[in-house]
Amino acid sequence: MKKEILHHFYKKSYAEKIEALYRAEAISKEDYESLKNETLKLSPSVANQMIENYILNYEFPFGVAMNFVIDEKECLIPMVTEEPSVVAAASNAGKIIGQSGGFQTEMKKRLMIGQIALTDVLDVKVATKNIQENKEKIIDLANAAHPSILNYGGGAQRVEVRLVEADAKFDTPEFLVVHLIVDTGEAMGANIVNTMAEAVAPFIVELSGGSRLMNILSNYSTESIATARCIVHPKYLATKTMNGELVRDRIIEATQFALADTYRAVTHNKGIMNGIDAVLLATGNDWRAVEAGAHAYASKDGQYRSLSRWSKDNEGNLVGEMKLPLSIGSVGGTLSIHPSAQFAYRLLDQPSAAELSRILVAVGLAQNLAALRALVTEGIQKGHMSLQARSLAIRVGATGKNIERVATRLQNAEHMNSKTAQKILDDLSKNDL
Ligand code: MEV
Repeated sequence: MKKEILHHFYKKSYAEKIEALYRAEAISKEDYESLKNETLKLSPSVANQMIENYILNYEFPFGVAMNFVIDEKECLIPMVTEEPSVVAAASNAGKIIGQSGGFQTEMKKRLMIGQIALTDVLDVKVATKNIQENKEKIIDLANAAHPSILNYGGGAQRVEVRLVEADAKFDTPEFLVVHLIVDTGEAMGANIVNTMAEAVAPFIVELSGGSRLMNILSNYSTESIATARCIVHPKYLATKTMNGELVRDRIIEATQFALADTYRAVTHNKGIMNGIDAVLLATGNDWRAVEAGAHAYASKDGQYRSLSRWSKDNEGNLVGEMKLPLSIGSVGGTLSIHPSAQFAYRLLDQPSAAELSRILVAVGLAQNLAALRALVTEGIQKGHMSLQARSLAIRVGATGKNIERVATRLQNAEHMNSKTAQKILDDLSKNDL
């Protein structure tokens, strides 16, 4: 990629942006033409096959976050979001982190969990022993139900038995739960795991003497944890009014606050998910699954806490770390039919599911740094103002050059609201006559 060509990307017009992406060799000639001709959209005929009672395509903006360096590779991050400041903030933090060497990421394994839940098991000990003694048979049965995954080097790998104890407080009975742990290859794996879990359930019922309540994939994918880490020199954190060391210390305090207080942790993690969801949406992945898993992971010690950790190393650098369970895929599902999602993958250079998981955690950490740095320095509103002003200008009907003209005046006005925006637009229109 010829990065220099993308310099000041945000200042370019739409046509200049896509031309720059092409000249920088970030996209192919084909994608450049498709962007120009707007042919990367989901067609109504395909959409009509995706859901029941389809009537309309609901569109969100697709942007590109700049400046990311992940495992020494420069990447452009596709983001689909309606929130004005998300892409700008990600690019900003990407730059700060990139200047300090970028992200180091890791994903040691990527396995999905299928649950077979049993009730009314008379003798839990005997049932557990029976299941454990038949693990190999269960694995064989599971693999026979979805043999094609073996061709991709995947398949069922482990069987684990968990006892979920009865709880009088919630009036819940005891459950014996069998976890089938599956390597789903590049797929997110819901179909594979659910097919396998369904196939092994009758045998497990037989072995346990209990009754089958259900079998389904768990989105708490604790066997698919990705990690991102970055080390930021404080000089890159400085603002006009605060030195880098002070900003660093305040970011650390902000994380401590989000570790200690659930009210803050929810908003802190929401900021992280602003980035992660945007990439999940762009790449056609199931963001609800990742959201649910992430929030459960944030509560794993019994209290909902910050997902990220920011601390200081011996050299005084700010160190950011985050681990997340991620159930995503790089083939199948929405990706196989949605042209914009396919484009997002090409923009990312066709990452594997593990690589995409690692990118997602890095983006979440970057989004978090941008939010915290703004919050502990000048506050979040200032950075939001110009983007909000543009949204307001569009909302009152400004088009073309008038969007920027209204937005600029709006930022200097006493009240930034639609009434003022309308007045500015009316005045401009009168003057143009
Ligand atoms: C807004 O969408 C996200 C933030 O509230 C995140 C945070 O507070 O850390 C700015």
